[in-house]
Amino acid sequence: MSDTPPILELRQITKRFGGLTALEDVNFDLHVGETHALVGENGAGKSTLMRILSGVYNEYDGDYILDGQHIRLASPRDALSRGIGMIHQELNVMPELSVAENIFLGRQPLTAMGSVDWRTMNRVAEEELRKLGFNINVRLPLEQYPLGIQQVTEVLRVILSGARILIMDEPTSALSPAEVERLIQLVNDLRSRHKRSIIYISHFLDEVMRVADRVTVLRDGRNVATVNATETSKTQLISLILGREMDAVLPSASESTAKRTLLSIKDLSGGAFENVNLDLDAGEIVGLYGLFGAGHFDLARALFGMFRFDSGTITIDGYSFPTNFTARDAIKKGLAYVSESRRKSLFMDEANYRNITLPHLGHIGGFWPSYAKEVAAARPVMEMVNVQPCKPDNPVGTLSGGNQQKVAIARWITYPPKVFVVSEPTRGMDVGAKNEVLSILVNFRNQGYGVLVVSSEPETVLAVSDRIVVMSRGKIVSELANTGDLQKEALMRLI
Ligand SMILES: Nc1ncnc2c1ncn2[C@@H]1O[C@H](COP(=O)(O)OP(=O)(O)OP(=O)(O)O)[C@@H](O)[C@H]1O
Ligand SMILES: [Mg+2]
Repeated sequence: MSDTPPILELRQITKRFGGLTALEDVNFDLHVGETHALVGENGAGKSTLMRILSGVYNEYDGDYILDGQHIRLASPRDALSRGIGMIHQELNVMPELSVAENIFLGRQPLTAMGSVDWRTMNRVAEEELRKLGFNINVRLPLEQYPLGIQQVTEVLRVILSGARILIMDEPTSALSPAEVERLIQLVNDLRSRHKRSIIYISHFLDEVMRVADRVTVLRDGRNVATVNATETSKTQLISLILGREMDAVLPSASESTAKRTLLSIKDLSGGAFENVNLDLDAGEIVGLYGLFGAGHFDLARALFGMFRFDSGTITIDGYSFPTNFTARDAIKKGLAYVSESRRKSLFMDEANYRNITLPHLGHIGGFWPSYAKEVAAARPVMEMVNVQPCKPDNPVGTLSGGNQQKVAIARWITYPPKVFVVSEPTRGMDVGAKNEVLSILVNFRNQGYGVLVVSSEPETVLAVSDRIVVMSRGKIVSELANTGDLQKEALMRLI
């Protein structure tokens, strides 16, 4: 690998945001046909480094060398014209445009008459998606598809734009296990057959070990190590990432007392689910597991009055909601809900404290909550989930991806609910932060709340659930006690 000069090299990169140093003297290089993984804790500087690489930031210290030439990119468009394409951590898609339009965004094929060649566009989009194993109608708006498809669309857009250097910032964080497999195959294919060079950011270290030739570890904005994937292990990577061994022990379950049902779903049917029956007790964590399209995320939305159901009942601690209740009613009755999509639930330009206090303004100070009261309410919960940096005034958008997720959870700890419904609680989190958040959920359970963990990540539901309910095609297909020997493979076989 090192006998040819790198296609791309970053030397001594330093990047500051006001007083915060996000990167300091960072070195990174990439060879032709190589997959180079970049790992590190939330806030380590991975996305910032890649934004420099892809032309988003052009104010920084250090050298950028492409094909042996010192350059400074003017913009992402400039980067793309030189063959560098980035798939961002937070999706960049246009939800109201069709799948095909998203794939060809900005470079639609034209007919001889100069109008958009819809037929070619739709055909190519359909073919390319089929190669990846997705048989979908590319004429429908992208927003009608699950996040997994949206992510694949973005990957495809960048690949088809002809990029020879592909930057993937957590490309699999919204994908189901089967979709992850296809993407890994695609990455390996692009690298070995098409000689593309790939930078791969992920918190899933198993995945990193499978795709990467080399792995670079960042910690606190500095290089820690660059190692060959064949010469390292997951355990070694974890200690390089954290700078210590991980204490992976979750709090133990407290003895449950008398059974009390907090959430009861009876014969619930709606567009995306059918005849769902599910009970959640006080002091219990139920994992609701399914692949994208299984209906589990929509069911979670329905519990919060955000997805219509046609028949059946939802009861919280003895109170049954009418069919057309709202999120406001749900909050009032003691339900909290964290969506699987940060983009939808957080206001990126608003301060952290505002994002946290928003649903609680009534509690915090009647009609006129003051700034001081809001910050006083937000700061302790930000500390509790360990948001880094812990600055209530900063806009959420300036936090790293994993830390944004912590804010989304912190929002609901301010006034703990009776029932906590969390979709993909650990999406985008580093190994340490995952553990912190799962510990928070276990502690909730131990305090007597009911927790419903809705996820497509088998590891997440297996780690914390007392009981696991499996959904497939809108129906509950299985229910299992989570005894210690239940395995990821066993769970995946059920769907
Ligand atoms: N636009 C910005 N303004 C101010 N600070 C920023 C901005 N973007 C990033 N930062 C800060 O720079 C540091 C590095 O953030 P970055 O997003 O690069 O982390 P990351 O390694 O990608 O983390 P994650 O795994 O959570 O995505 C963090 O402390 C973050 O808060
Ligand atoms: Mg990031």
